[in-house]
Amino acid sequence: MPSPIYPQPDKVLEHPHIRTFHARQGRMSARREFALNELLPKFEISRSDSPLDLAEDLDLSTVIVDFGSGMGLHTLELATRNPEVGVLAIDVHTVGLLAIVETATEQSLTNIRTHHGDGIDVFIDWLKPSTIDEVHILFPDPWPKARQHKRRLINQQFLTLVFALLKPDGRIIFATDNDEYFESATAVFSEFKRFDVRFDDWDVPMTTYHLRALSLSHNISQLSARKI
Ligand SMILES: C[S@@+](CC[C@H](N)C(=O)[O-])C[C@H]1O[C@@H](n2cnc3c(N)ncnc32)[C@H](O)[C@@H]1O
Repeated sequence: MPSPIYPQPDKVLEHPHIRTFHARQGRMSARREFALNELLPKFEISRSDSPLDLAEDLDLSTVIVDFGSGMGLHTLELATRNPEVGVLAIDVHTVGLLAIVETATEQSLTNIRTHHGDGIDVFIDWLKPSTIDEVHILFPDPWPKARQHKRRLINQQFLTLVFALLKPDGRIIFATDNDEYFESATAVFSEFKRFDVRFDDWDVPMTTYHLRALSLSHNISQLSARKI
């Protein structure tokens, strides 16, 4: 019998807004199938009529969102190094989230939550405004062709959503190895006007794409944008 295919979350299949991610499929091992059915549901946040205050829910004072958590290295390292910080990992793709919940379960990490689906939905109305300390957007899909630019995550609507969720003084950090995307994202931030943008050298755990960019000797650009 063929092994099951990694599901696309239901919420993604009939999605009302532009997709900022690529569709992917692959076969799943029995172990991963267990993680999908038995472990992931224990970490997933859900939408309710009263928007979620994740800090309160986790009984922690600081919450970071890893938006587009990919293979999960960054989420896992952040959560392990900082047990006092809650980390919400968001991705539509299944494999990395399963790696996160498997490791979190093995290591009894209690400060991780996940969303398997489009994070824009979560940012629209799942979370309580002014409750998030940081949103990490690390090596988002660059959508390099001009006709694909509308799929880029960093745009005015997205910044409006993030701005509402961040605590006063909260920040976004953004990194990419696509120079043109960095330039256009910088322009979007500056047009938004309500972030203090710095091209500083913040240091956070690396992601898979960060390691790949280093191995290919790509130029890596990063900024932090603090809510004014
Ligand atoms: C290029 S990968 C980078 C992953 C990781 N941050 C890294 O640096 O290795 C971008 C990730 O963002 C995810 N993504 C893009 N748009 C998303 C959205 N609207 N909601 C959830 N995940 C999204 C993609 O599925 C993909 O896994």
